[in-house]
Amino acid sequence: MIKLFDPYFDKNEKRALLEVLESKAWASGAGIGKVAEFEDEFNKYIGSDDCVALNNGTAALHLALMQMDLKNKEVLVPSLTFVSTVHAVLYAGAKPVFVDVDKDTLCLSIDDLRKKISRKSSLIIPVHFGGIPCKMDEIEKISQEHKIAVTEDAAHACGSKFSGKNIGTHSDIVCFSFHPVKNLSMPTGGAITLNKKFVKKRKKLLKSLRWCGIDNRKEVFYDVPRLGWNYYMNEFSAAIGLQQLKKIEHMNERRKNIARIYHKGILLEGKTPISHDFSYHLYWIRIKKRSKFIRFMNKSGIEVGIHYKPVHLMTAYKTTKSLPITESVWPELVSIPMHVNLTNSQVKYIIEKINEFQNKFMN
Ligand SMILES: Cc1ncc(COP(=O)(O)O)c(C=O)c1O
Repeated sequence: MIKLFDPYFDKNEKRALLEVLESKAWASGAGIGKVAEFEDEFNKYIGSDDCVALNNGTAALHLALMQMDLKNKEVLVPSLTFVSTVHAVLYAGAKPVFVDVDKDTLCLSIDDLRKKISRKSSLIIPVHFGGIPCKMDEIEKISQEHKIAVTEDAAHACGSKFSGKNIGTHSDIVCFSFHPVKNLSMPTGGAITLNKKFVKKRKKLLKSLRWCGIDNRKEVFYDVPRLGWNYYMNEFSAAIGLQQLKKIEHMNERRKNIARIYHKGILLEGKTPISHDFSYHLYWIRIKKRSKFIRFMNKSGIEVGIHYKPVHLMTAYKTTKSLPITESVWPELVSIPMHVNLTNSQVKYIIEKINEFQNKFMN
């Protein structure tokens, strides 16, 4: 079976893991050792003002939102995303207001975003879907006009650029995931990059929130002035992350190369657009008769996936309000294999199978 996702590693990750294993310093809530090193290196790579490492992307979103007073406020969020984006809104005691997407990029629709703004709107969460950056210039304009904060969900966008700048540098707070399927892989991991205002204050608070609310540590003494969570990154993840960082640009280049081959070869109208600025966490296509297509691909030895069933259609979030583009796109959405371990002949075979399905069953 050709896998949909498959993390890439070499002997350097193995060596780094063994080093941490033998050190017996596997975790530090305070985030010293490899975790601190990873924060520095990731911050340098992104070009942000600071960085706090966490144990996953969901925790990053949760803590980012816990820093603001969002109780009973409205948060503008796409429905076409992984459910964590929206869970974080509820963790913070706020109400999600679902925004439709642009049919070509599957990122937030700026028109619908403007329509959904109310006096209660306090935050926008752009999701850079599949590694395609949202229109951050337009979102920034709306944020300033209406005094609404922005926290980006960049779980898919490690290495993506908008307007010549890395994703992770545009808003005050940007959340990343390093889940094994992501462009930069760890067993579990996440991070928040911080920019512009209040960086020091936010970093101090986030470091306390990620370790059970612990603060003001002096040698073995500390205080707990607030509620916190157990969300710090472990040393194994950080050690893998440090090695992955050394090759992230190289790995993303390969993803871009595969995307270009897919784009040229796949004879479908609906497919992921092409740009050197996209990091291609996903390559999605739109195909009718989706269930039949999935069975056909699986029978051909190719794993495919669906990203995502929209959150507003999930039982926990069901709403009567509709999102026309999201609802028309998602029944046709399929993600095809995208990872660094794919060979050119596998990519060619995947394209052949997609086109064969089109010719056999759609014409
Ligand atoms: C868009 C999006 N947001 C948030 C997350 C949560 O990240 P994690 O799985 O690291 O908690 C994911 C991960 O799958 C994601 O795809």
